[in-house]
Amino acid sequence: MNTLLEILSEKTAAAFEAAGYDASFGKVSVSNRPDLCEFQCNGAMAGAKQNKKAPLAIASEVAAKLSDCDAFSSVEAVPPGFLNLKIREDFLSSYLMDCDKCEKPGLEPLNKALKIIIDYGGPNVAKPLHVGHLRSAVIGEAVKRLCAYMGHEVIGDIHLGDWGLQMGLIIHELSLRQPELPYFDENFEGEYPQEPPFTLSQLEEIYPAASARSKEDEDYKAAAMNATYRLQHGDRGCRALWQHIMDLSKADLKKNYDHLNVSFELWNGESDVDPLIPALVERLEKTGLLYESEGAKVIDVKEESDTKEMPPCMILKSDGASLYATTDLATLVMRMDETDPDRVIYVVDKRQQMHFDQVFRVAKKTGIVPEKTELKFIGFGTMNGRDGKPYKTRDGGVMRLEYLLSDIKDVMQKKMEENKNSSGKEEDYDIDRTARMVSVAALKYADLSNQATKDYIFDMDRFTSFEGNTGPYILYTMVRIKSILKRWQDEKGGDLSSVRLSDARGSGEKDIQLRLAAFNTMIKGAYEELAPHRICAYIYELADSFNSFYHDTKILSEEDKDVQAGWIALLKYTLRIFEICIDILGFEAPDRM
Ligand code: ARG
Repeated sequence: MNTLLEILSEKTAAAFEAAGYDASFGKVSVSNRPDLCEFQCNGAMAGAKQNKKAPLAIASEVAAKLSDCDAFSSVEAVPPGFLNLKIREDFLSSYLMDCDKCEKPGLEPLNKALKIIIDYGGPNVAKPLHVGHLRSAVIGEAVKRLCAYMGHEVIGDIHLGDWGLQMGLIIHELSLRQPELPYFDENFEGEYPQEPPFTLSQLEEIYPAASARSKEDEDYKAAAMNATYRLQHGDRGCRALWQHIMDLSKADLKKNYDHLNVSFELWNGESDVDPLIPALVERLEKTGLLYESEGAKVIDVKEESDTKEMPPCMILKSDGASLYATTDLATLVMRMDETDPDRVIYVVDKRQQMHFDQVFRVAKKTGIVPEKTELKFIGFGTMNGRDGKPYKTRDGGVMRLEYLLSDIKDVMQKKMEENKNSSGKEEDYDIDRTARMVSVAALKYADLSNQATKDYIFDMDRFTSFEGNTGPYILYTMVRIKSILKRWQDEKGGDLSSVRLSDARGSGEKDIQLRLAAFNTMIKGAYEELAPHRICAYIYELADSFNSFYHDTKILSEEDKDVQAGWIALLKYTLRIFEICIDILGFEAPDRM
C-alpha cells in the first residue's frame, strides 16, 4: 500500500501537471505549522525558478485545480507560495480502513525477503552480565524484531566471548585451589566427572579474583596465558573444565536474557570458529595482501578518503596467536558458508568502531564477504548514571544486570502498591508479575528512546515515572485503552468484531487518525535507518494524542451508539498499533496496572 503522503503527493502532482507544471513539484509533506494545516506542499517555490513566475501565482493555479479533489477539505495558496492542505475526514478514515485490512497495517508483503544476521549481546562467558552489555541486548533485539516485522528472515547470533584469557584465568586459579582435580592430572585417561567442580556463584567469585591477581603477579599471568594456550590447543582437561564453565554460564545468561525478553537463534561463540583460523590465514596468505610487520601478520586497510588514522588489521601476533579481528573474520567465513546472508548487522559499543572498520575492509578486499553482502555496524554509546559516569552500583562497583532489573522492579512495585491503596478500588491483579513487565518496559524504553549512538543517562526516577516520555507511560496508556474496551464489552454489551472506524468528528479524533495513518511511513523509516528510537517517538506522540482525546471525550457514557462504536473502533485500532510497536521494542503490556 502507498503511504498517505505518497497518495496525497500523487493528487498534488496531478494538479501541478494539469496547471501546466512539472509533476515532480507535487511532493506533499507533513505540515510544520500544524496550527494552520495538516499537510503542505512547497513545490511552487521550486516551480517558480524553473518557470520564471511568482510562486504564489503557481500555488494559486494548483489550488484551483485541487478545489474538487476528493482528498482535501481545504487547499490554500499562501505567501510566498506554499500550499496549505487539510485532508477530508472521509478520505482519512477510508485510508485507515484500508490499512486496517492489511496483515500489517498499511504495508504490503515484501517482494524479496533478505537474509539478515544480527550479531548482538556479545557477553563474555564467566563474567557476570553487567550493564555494559545491556544496550547491545536491548537495541539488538529491537533491531532484529524490526527487520523480522518488515518480513525479512533474521537470525540473531549472540557471539559469545568464550575463548579468551578469561577462561585461562579461571582454569589456572582452579588448578591452584583444587590441584587434586583430575582435570589437572596429565596422566588421567578416564571420563571426567559430569558435575562441575564449582557452582555458578563460586565461578563468579573466581574470575574477578584471578583477574585482579594477574594484574599484579607476572608469573601468575604467564601461567594463565599458558592455560589459555593449552585450552586452545586441545588439552583434554582444560577442554572439559571449559565445558563446565560454558554450561553453567550459558544457563545463567539464558535466564538473564529471558527476563529481558531477549532470545537468540544462534548461540555461537568465538570458540566455534577457532578451528577455521588456520584455513583463514592460508586464504588470506593467498590473496597476497597479508604481510609481515615486526613479526606480526597484517593487512593494510587504509583508504585515501580516510580522515582518521587507520592502522593495518592485525591477523596474527608475532607468537602466532590469533586476535579479536581474526575471530571476527573467521566468524564471517562461517556465516557466509552456512547462511550466505544479504546483510550482517553488528550491535556493539561504539568504541569498537575502528575494529569493525578494519574487519569489514579486510573481509571485502579479500573476498571473504562478496560485494552484495552488506556489513553494517551499529555502535551505541554508554549508559551513564545521573553523575554522567558509567552506571555503577551505589558503592561504585560494576552494576550487574540482575540487580539493576530487580531495583527497577522494586520501585515499580512500590508505586503500584501506592496507587492501589490510594485508588480504594478492589484490584486483584498480580502486582509482582505486572511490576516485572513494567520494569522491563521502563528499562528498555529508557534505552531505546535515545538515538543508539548517543550516551544516555539512566535516571531511575525519570524512567519509572508514569508521566512523560517513559515506558510506564506508554503501558499506562495501553492499559487505559484495554480497560475502556473491556468495560464497553462487559457493561454495554458491545461486540468488538462489529465496530467500524468512522469519520472523525472532532480535532482530537482526527489527530489520532492522522497519527495512525502515519504508521507505515514511520515503520519504513525506522527500518531504513535501523532506528528503534523512531518507534518510541511515534508511540509517545500517539499516547499523547490518545490521552488528550480521552480527557475531552466521555466515551463510555456517550448516548449516540453509532458515535460510540466509531470511537471504540478507533481505540481498537490504536491498541493494535501500540501492540505492534511495543512488540518490536521487545516488551509487553499488562491488562491492568
Ligand atoms: N564480547 C565482545 C565484548 O565484550 C563483544 C562482541 C561483539 N561482537 C563481535 N562480533 N565482535 O567486547
